[in-house]
Amino acid sequence: MRLITTIEEMREVVHDLKKSGKTIGFVPTMGYLHAGHATPIDRARTENDVVVVSIFVNPLQFGPQEDYASYPRDLERDSAICQEHGVDFVFAPSSNVMYPKGTVDVFVDVRRLDQNLCGRFRPGHFRGVLTVVMKLFNIVQPDRAYFGMKDIQQLRIIEEMVNDLNWPVQIVAVPTVREDSGLAMSSRNTYLSEEERKTATAIYQSLQMARQLIEAGERDASAICDKCIEFLERVGLRVQYFQVVDYDSLQLLRTVSGKVIVGVAAFVGKARLIDNVVLEVS
Ligand code: PAF
Repeated sequence: MRLITTIEEMREVVHDLKKSGKTIGFVPTMGYLHAGHATPIDRARTENDVVVVSIFVNPLQFGPQEDYASYPRDLERDSAICQEHGVDFVFAPSSNVMYPKGTVDVFVDVRRLDQNLCGRFRPGHFRGVLTVVMKLFNIVQPDRAYFGMKDIQQLRIIEEMVNDLNWPVQIVAVPTVREDSGLAMSSRNTYLSEEERKTATAIYQSLQMARQLIEAGERDASAICDKCIEFLERVGLRVQYFQVVDYDSLQLLRTVSGKVIVGVAAFVGKARLIDNVVLEVS
């Protein structure tokens, strides 16, 4: 496995790989890897000749009050995990390498698809994500890129970006990896105390509650959300949103029908955690 920190070196490697007809599977990450990253890495390993993992905590996607400075970082540990999982190249540029001007003057932006779920509460977040993902795609030129379904809005917006901008990459959606308790794996789980980790399991329970209500015939999205919010607040979580949106348009639904995303963001202590389920409702 080779660790690459400059764009020039990554480009040279990609140039040679393309020349020899190798397919590139790409897993973009912000590091502090866990099983939720290992699953897409393993999948990329089986589906491509070469696997590239990027590790870059992207300042552009954090709001001023968010956790950019405290976001967990450990390149040594991450490199060891990548090595264990058969990664060929870790691309870990510094912020200066990615943003020599400190920022960029030209962004990739999104409309409509960021009106609900996380986009509503994190202005500019998806613009930062899309801009860095497009930069990484330009550098790594992957045949396939792997994104976790825990960040379902990110995944959907990236799917639309490559469609709208005709970028020749296959986006592969990887199901959320959960702890035995149901808690979705996240680098931000490291912020949780033992007690908070137990409380946080209510997030997935609330999604199961929504699923059960829908299975029992409830179609009124507000009624479902109100019940689930009440449950989360009762166990001590501060809910940022609990929403049911259409899978394609990401617009809020009044009546639950078709392919839908039930999404939640809640604070457990200082950790903001997100999760979702995708349901087909007839
Ligand atoms: O999901 C993440 O870890 C990040 O948003 C991504 C896609 C690596 C872009 O910084």
